[in-house]
Amino acid sequence: MTTISRDRSSYSANAEYWKRIIRDGLDRYRTGLTDAAVLEAAGDVTGLSVLDAGCGEGYLARLLAAGGARPVVGVDLCPELVEAARDTAAREGLDITYETADVAALPLADGAVDLVVANHVLNDLEKPAPAIAEFARVLAPGGRVAALLLHPCFYGSRATPVDVADYYRPRRIEQHFDVAGEVSPVPVVAWTRPLEDFTRAFAAAGLGITGIREPHPSEQQLRDDPWWTENFTRPLFMLITATRTA
Ligand SMILES: C[S@@+](CC[C@H](N)C(=O)[O-])C[C@H]1O[C@@H](n2cnc3c(N)ncnc32)[C@H](O)[C@@H]1O
Repeated sequence: MTTISRDRSSYSANAEYWKRIIRDGLDRYRTGLTDAAVLEAAGDVTGLSVLDAGCGEGYLARLLAAGGARPVVGVDLCPELVEAARDTAAREGLDITYETADVAALPLADGAVDLVVANHVLNDLEKPAPAIAEFARVLAPGGRVAALLLHPCFYGSRATPVDVADYYRPRRIEQHFDVAGEVSPVPVVAWTRPLEDFTRAFAAAGLGITGIREPHPSEQQLRDDPWWTENFTRPLFMLITATRTA
């Protein structure tokens, strides 16, 4: 409970900052890399019922609604971001429901959705397994999850070779966001953990992993823009896709 209320207040304090970063497209890792990977994993969403778990200011839900998903629900713990998401969807005439709620206690019925996207969310949770179990609960049989994570093996690792004992321990990283030189007003906490913790939690929830991708710059991106070589110095992201099997 302590973690949840602290995370809530840190995102509340960062809400204006976060909206600006996302809405001005300042996070190049997203705009140039991970958004495309998540949307590709989502595939054709026409007519699919979708949950954007930990939706922040709601842009992914908006993209999925614009792509034909119906209904679309976004859930986030931060009321300021949920309010911003609601306002924007209303202004853009998009039929999206946003709720302030914990991804580990989703306000959705069993089997209510066909697709769960969790973009940069599972690393916010000290214990991701309950949220992953909730994703499975709210998915219809055959429903899918696409979860974009910080790369378990490389993100935050400073030592080469990696300190093995450190890798297998969940690691708490408290840091300010620093995106394109814009630093967040207050720090946020992220958790990294070994890949096997995620695969175990997916399996325990009845989610069969169908793919693990590591979004990274293409040859052309590396050729065309030195920013990628300067900034993408190790694998930073992992995208896990899974299907509800049980
Ligand atoms: C890094 S942001 C990503 C937001 C959004 N998915 C995006 O990609 O822009 C993490 C989000 O997770 C939310 N969050 C953290 N813990 C949560 C929880 N237990 N339940 C719901 N949302 C949570 C935060 O409020 C924040 O909006």
